[in-house]
Formats: sequence, C-alpha cells, structure tokens
Amino acid sequence: MAPGDALPALPAFLALLGALLPVSEAQVHLALGDRRLDSRSTITYHGDSLSAKTVLEGKAEEEGSQQLTCAVMLGNQSLETRRSVTIYSFPAPNLTLSEPEVSEGTEVMVECQARAEAVVTLSGVPAGPPGPRVQFLLNASAEDNGRSFSCSAALEVAGQVLQKNRTRELRVLYGPWLDERDCPGNWTWKEGSQQTLRCQARGNPSPHLNCSREKDGALLPIGNLSCVTRNLSGTYVCRAISSRGELIREVSVMVLYSDHQNIVAIVVVTILATLGAVGSAAYVYNRQRKIKKYKLQEAQKATTMKLNTQATPP
Ligand SMILES: *[C@@H]1O[C@H](CO)[C@@H](O)[C@H](O)[C@H]1NC(C)=O
Ligand SMILES: *[C@@H]1O[C@H](CO)[C@@H](O)[C@H](O)[C@H]1NC(C)=O
Ligand SMILES: *[C@@H]1O[C@H](CO)[C@@H](O)[C@H](O)[C@H]1NC(C)=O
Ligand SMILES: *[C@@H]1O[C@H](CO)[C@@H](O)[C@H](O)[C@H]1NC(C)=O
Ligand SMILES: *[C@@H]1O[C@H](CO)[C@@H](O)[C@H](O)[C@H]1NC(C)=O
Ligand SMILES: *[C@@H]1O[C@H](CO)[C@@H](O)[C@H](O)[C@H]1NC(C)=O
Ligand SMILES: *[C@@H]1O[C@H](CO)[C@@H](O)[C@H](O)[C@H]1NC(C)=O
Ligand SMILES: *[C@@H]1O[C@H](CO)[C@@H](O)[C@H](O)[C@H]1NC(C)=O
Repeated sequence: MAPGDALPALPAFLALLGALLPVSEAQVHLALGDRRLDSRSTITYHGDSLSAKTVLEGKAEEEGSQQLTCAVMLGNQSLETRRSVTIYSFPAPNLTLSEPEVSEGTEVMVECQARAEAVVTLSGVPAGPPGPRVQFLLNASAEDNGRSFSCSAALEVAGQVLQKNRTRELRVLYGPWLDERDCPGNWTWKEGSQQTLRCQARGNPSPHLNCSREKDGALLPIGNLSCVTRNLSGTYVCRAISSRGELIREVSVMVLYSDHQNIVAIVVVTILATLGAVGSAAYVYNRQRKIKKYKLQEAQKATTMKLNTQATPP
C-alpha cells in the first residue's frame, strides 16, 4: 500500500462534537472499497480526539487504485472521509546463481528476475536493454571468490519509483597457491635482526602450510616476528595443502653473520706481525748501516796506512 496519511477533516469534526458528547462514544469504521477493515482496526481516544489504525493486507485482485473510507459516527451525526490508495505487489527480485560454490574455470549463470513491469539492473555487469530480467554468464576465477552480485529492481507505482534489491555472494574454490608474491623463495638476513617470515598460501578453502628444513625437519616460524639466529639458515620445503590439492615450494634462508672474536684475533695477529716486521727491518737496516760504517772506517784506516807507508821512503 502506498503511504497514506491522516484524514484531515476528522479532527475538526470531532472537536466540534466532542464539546457535546464524549468522543469515546464515537464509532469508527474503515473500509477498502467494499471490504470492511474493522476486525483489524485499533481505535485510540485522546481527550476530544481519536485515531483509528489498521493493517491493510492488499489482495492480488485489489491491485491498483482503491478507495479507503473512514466513517465516524457520534450521536446522530456522522462524517465520512475518503482517500485513494494504490495497492501493488513488488517482491524483491529473484537473484540466482546457477551454483553458489564452483571451482575456478567453471561457468556460472547469474540471473535476476523481477515482476514484469519492473526494470532490473545487476551491479558490476554491463547494462543490457531495460527489462525485468538480466542474465550474465561468468567464467569463475579465483578473483571472483567472495564477489557479490547485487540486483536492483525499480517499479513505478502511482508516480513514485520504488526500489528493491537483493544480493548474492559467489564462492569460488581455488588453490592452493604459493608463488613468489605469497612466499619469497630467497631470504637473506643479518643475524640478530628482527624479521617476520612472511609465507602465506592462498586458496579457498584456505590451505594448511608449513615449511620444514630439508636436513632435519626443523619448522620455519612463519608469520612471527623473531630475532634471526644463524641456525635458521637452510633450505626449507614449504607444503601448502587443501582439500583441492597440494603445492610445494622451496625456500632458502641465508643468515649473514660475522664472527667478531675471530676478526679481533686476526686484527691483533696482523698488528703484531706488522710490528714484528717493522722491528726486524729497522734492526737489519741499523745493523747494515753500522756494518757499512765499520767497513768504511776500516777502508779509511787502510788507505791512511798505505799513504803513510808510501809517504815514508825506504
Ligand atoms: C441530533 O440530536 C440532537 C439532540 O441529541 C438534536 O438536537 C438534533 O436536532 C439532531 N440532529 C439531527 C440531524 O437529527
Ligand atoms: C575459463 O577461463 C579459463 C582461464 O581463463 C580457461 O582456461 C577456461 O577454459 C575457461 N572456461 C570456460 C568454460 O570458458
Ligand atoms: C521468485 O521465485 C519464487 C520462488 O521460486 C517464485 O514464486 C516467484 O514467482 C519468483 N518471482 C519472479 C519475479 O520471478
Ligand atoms: C539495497 O537495499 C538496501 C536496503 O534496502 C540498501 O541499504 C542498499 O543500499 C541497496 N543497494 C543497492 C545497490 O541499491
Ligand atoms: C634464489 O637465488 C638463487 C641464486 O641467487 C637462484 O638460483 C634461485 O633460483 C633463487 N630461488 C628462487 C626461488 O627465487
Ligand atoms: C606439515 O603439514 C603437513 C600437511 O598438512 C602435515 O602432514 C605435517 O604433519 C606438518 N608437519 C608438522 C611438523 O607440523
Ligand atoms: C607464533 O607466535 C604465536 C604466539 O605469539 C605462537 O602461538 C605460534 O606457535 C608461533 N608460530 C610459530 C610457527 O612459531
Ligand atoms: C635456533 O637456536 C635457538 C636457540 O639458540 C632455538 O631456540 C631455535 O629453536 C633454533 N632454531 C632452529 C630452526 O633450529
């Protein structure tokens, strides 16, 4: 039923009569066309006024414009007011998916249908000619998982455009997936740094994942922020399993570390060695200088002696 409002002539009428007779003695009758609505009416009295309410259930055969009558009788006086109401039937459109849950790569038919006079539109689908029915054939992909289709139907009733809609969600089964984006294949970290091991298999149903090290089966602490230790390094086999299958991906973890104590020792040894080398070189140099000096002195002595001997004639 289109929204109706209070029948305006009644309050004035009641105010006039109320002065003479108690309003509570008034009789009220509501009718739609010829159909009396008294059985479901409730009448409330407030001082010198009253209101009558009814729940009107339109019947299919009454569709269209109808007269709603309200008659009030008080003493030997009566007043009747009429209003036109429009009765219509406009259920929400029927939106159906040929299958609500499909495997990826399967074709799904999305269909929306409303009553003949309505115009439907299906969200996210190219608009076709306006009409009460829309169909859309979809090749379901993983991206369509959780996609929701909303069908909106519009119907014009007594100059007003009414709208009803309905939504359905598609579930697409896919996976498990585990690619470079989901789980990087090479991790290189510094020892002692805080890292989150990000490895997440995708799929519907959501896969179970663990990564165990090839040599000893140690598990990677996936998804947790942790301090990198050198014993984390190794090659891990990540297994993603869902009811749809299994996927394996190798992940290698390399931990860069420097052994501080060894470096210090090497540096110290190098310094000592350098010092030693410099010391020996200096010693050798000095010694050789001394030897040269001595030899020079000896040579000078010898020359002097020769000179002396030559200078002394026999
Ligand atoms: C209505 O009743 C009142 C008295 O109760 C009377 O005076 C009046 O004439 C009556 N009117 C009609 C239209 O019968
Ligand atoms: C759906 O799309 C996939 C990938 O694009 C394709 O391999 C498959 O054949 C398509 N299925 C149908 C029924 O068209
Ligand atoms: C919607 O579906 C119901 C139940 O299947 C059916 O009775 C009704 O006629 C359908 N409505 C339209 C507009 O097709
Ligand atoms: C569908 O109807 C609901 C409630 O009637 C409304 O909140 C929503 O915005 C509507 N959606 C569309 C797409 O019209
Ligand atoms: C990891 O890196 C090595 C060499 O850098 C390369 O050979 C290998 O293919 C990489 N693995 C992955 C999964 O990217
Ligand atoms: C790793 O996952 C597989 C498959 O879900 C399971 O069989 C195995 O027990 C798991 N390993 C550990 C150590 O949790
Ligand atoms: C990650 O941390 C949570 C709690 O912080 C713990 O329950 C879970 O076992 C950890 N996962 C791994 C793989 O260590
Ligand atoms: C690495 O060593 C730490 C302790 O130093 C230990 O808690 C952890 O479980 C070890 N991780 C692996 C993968 O062996």
